[in-house]
Amino acid sequence: MRPVEPFKIKMVEPIRLIARDEREREVREAGYNLFQIPATSVYIDLLTDSGTGSMSDSQWASIMRGDESYAGARSFFRLKDAVRSIFGYEHFIPAHQGRAAEHILFSVMVKPGQIVPSNIHFDTTRAHVENRQAEARDLAIDAAYDTALELPFKGDIDCRALEQLIDHSRAQIPLVMMTVTNNSAGGQPVSMKNVREAAAICRDRRVPMFFDAARYAENCYFIKTREAGYKDHSVLEIARELFSYGDGATMSAKKDGLVNMGGFVTLRDGNVAEKIRQQLILYEGFPTYGGMSGRDMEALATGIGEALDEDYLAFRTEQVKLLCDDLHEAGVPVIRPAGGHAVYIDATRFLPDIPASQFPGQAIVCALYLEAGIRSVEVGSLMFGKQNESPRLELVRLAIPRRVYTNDHILYVADAIKELYRKRKQIKGMRIVSQSAVLRHFTARLEPIS
Ligand code: F0G
Repeated sequence: MRPVEPFKIKMVEPIRLIARDEREREVREAGYNLFQIPATSVYIDLLTDSGTGSMSDSQWASIMRGDESYAGARSFFRLKDAVRSIFGYEHFIPAHQGRAAEHILFSVMVKPGQIVPSNIHFDTTRAHVENRQAEARDLAIDAAYDTALELPFKGDIDCRALEQLIDHSRAQIPLVMMTVTNNSAGGQPVSMKNVREAAAICRDRRVPMFFDAARYAENCYFIKTREAGYKDHSVLEIARELFSYGDGATMSAKKDGLVNMGGFVTLRDGNVAEKIRQQLILYEGFPTYGGMSGRDMEALATGIGEALDEDYLAFRTEQVKLLCDDLHEAGVPVIRPAGGHAVYIDATRFLPDIPASQFPGQAIVCALYLEAGIRSVEVGSLMFGKQNESPRLELVRLAIPRRVYTNDHILYVADAIKELYRKRKQIKGMRIVSQSAVLRHFTARLEPIS
């Protein structure tokens, strides 16, 4: 049976599919880069699931209860308690979003020349490690790079590689970062078994283990439904167990916090927390609001609880699976099995005749916008490629915002992609016309190769 929305709609925001010739003009003027297209020219926006979700009526009611006191706001204590009841760590430091949390944590813990291992670092995490003149080392299991392989926990870290790295370079490793779910590996979850094993390796060698918890609720739901021994546990119980194995976490609350803006660091170590608070005052704000207003903290305190609701999580993961399975059954190459927040097209298999140097992912992104007004994002050579070096996967991500689109929207997307797949021989490769030195994918201008 198709998943049914566990909510009804109280407020609507009109969207419109602009005409084909207008879409052609938009994409040309944007230099074939959909980051440069106004959102009003997009029909279904799957650019990201970050900060794009809908808040509930309870969250909007919470907004009215925001305490905007500079110091000691009630909303801070409510949020701190809500976070502690899930994560269990003593210290709570609010920041304006995930990358701000990474910034203040790494500026205290990471020193030049060090190595920060992860299953796979998200790109802002990597950038903040590198900004400290340290190395961000990905240690995903090999299965993460095999898009067709059907395994339940392709987000896992390679524990043998982690052990070897720490034994070889212990003095250089300030912390290990576990990304749950593993965004860059297709939103694939990490198993509790893997977390337990990685934590034991870290504990024996006295290396702190932190979580990048942006999508932890989705990860915990996959543990409940895919891992032996967890089906009778609540997702909240699973989350508490998961975090009990670590020493702290950074969180982009724009994902599983169900808010449009917000984030935090939470951790056990009081000395490190004190140093982070000093960074916080410098870059974000006073310790009882960090980067957030009182009303934002209230909305998050409510939202973080809603994201653990199992009817919500069942619908959420089923909706992503609906798109993933529908495409897979039609022969469209996608990362299998469905991940937590997005469906990823394998652009190498979709367009086998277009080499990485001609950005097959970006060619699909533009073609899909022209076909149906859908905005997706390339996660491949345009985003990660350096001179003469391609990443291991060429992907197109279709990220599903939380509680925003109905299943009819999702099936419209599925039909458009299937149609595009039938016409794939007509899609041409792309070349870069101009680009910036860092994070080029946001602003690069491209053109199709005729
Ligand atoms: N960690 C993960 C796993 C993320 O996916 C993101 C953001 C961040 C950290 C940074 O958080 O955006 O609040 O500063 N991911 C977004 C995405 C941008 O589209 O996947 P932020």
